[in-house]
Amino acid sequence: MHKKLYIPGPVEVGLDVMQALTAPMIGHRTAEYAQLHRRVTDGLKQLLNTADPVFLATSSAFGVMEGAVRNLVQKRCACFGNGAFSSKWHDVTVRCGLAADLYEAPWGEPISAAMVERALATGKYDALTVVHNETSTGVMSPLEEIAAVMRNYPEVSFIVDTVSSMSAVPLDLSRLQTDVCLAGVQKAFGLPPGLAVFAVSRRALDKARTTPNRGYYFDFEEFEKNDEKDNTPSTPCISLIYALAHQLDKMFAEGLENRYARHRSLAEATRAWVQKHGFSLFAAEGAGSVTLTCARTDGRTDLELLQKLAGERGYALDNGYGKIKNQTFRIAHMADATLADLEELFDLLEGLLPKTRK
Ligand SMILES: Cc1ncc(COP(=O)(O)O)c(C=O)c1O
Repeated sequence: MHKKLYIPGPVEVGLDVMQALTAPMIGHRTAEYAQLHRRVTDGLKQLLNTADPVFLATSSAFGVMEGAVRNLVQKRCACFGNGAFSSKWHDVTVRCGLAADLYEAPWGEPISAAMVERALATGKYDALTVVHNETSTGVMSPLEEIAAVMRNYPEVSFIVDTVSSMSAVPLDLSRLQTDVCLAGVQKAFGLPPGLAVFAVSRRALDKARTTPNRGYYFDFEEFEKNDEKDNTPSTPCISLIYALAHQLDKMFAEGLENRYARHRSLAEATRAWVQKHGFSLFAAEGAGSVTLTCARTDGRTDLELLQKLAGERGYALDNGYGKIKNQTFRIAHMADATLADLEELFDLLEGLLPKTRK
């Protein structure tokens, strides 16, 4: 049975997208592929307002997260953690044999510009990792403010995970001046998993060329050389790239401002519903994510039972992630989601909650 996904990734994939995935296969070293590749990378550049190259990697987001540190950490990396994914990035960096320190904010809090300033002022770092939208806690950090600090540290590579925010909120890379801005397509792009997209600055490409032991699969130089021919270093997931072309067309047809406004209003509706039903928001005031809402149950709801009952009715619900599993639940409201989808969920929950209240 198909379960309608309200989990924060992979998200529900529309039938039109599934249809786009079925386009006949082509060879990737062909003019046809180059045309498709160019169409998608041009669309991503427009979305991100950047003239930097945007690369396509056949992997989940963690592949590029690992690749970014392997290409750009030569001295020491400052990793900022405020949830499962951001803190894991420190572990990933260390596992690559690179020197790295973890600066943690409590779960639920954003990473502040002041925190970044304090770490970089030590002069110890040549790279920084930060997650814009921490999906485990539903917290968005103030990227513009962090970017303002980064302008004073041009020698520090600014590596940003926008895995669950890219395409749902404005990301103007010409202003943010990130060195790497990456995402996986199974979140706000509304595609099945397996493709990661990432914009890399010229400054970062120049630096990467001088970094030893950066491997092959995520070597930025390989991506750059191939991208000049509208291609990828190794065989790409062509079906997903067809589907991404379709999703980009839809985004531009909707209008980016309308798309961002839709995401904001879905987030507001979800936050209002959650609070009306006696749950508190996990995110600190003003730091709530635009693409998902994380709420505390305060021990009053049996989330495993709720998940089971919803599953029997054809819905996939989340019951928290990492150390806040079964204490919180997350509702995704991103990609192609509409207010009608949320109302369908709210009706379901209103029927099930009395059965699961402790
Ligand atoms: C913010 C964030 N970063 C990284 C990841 C890891 O992505 P993937 O599982 O595609 O490697 C996720 C996955 O949920 C995420 O939400």
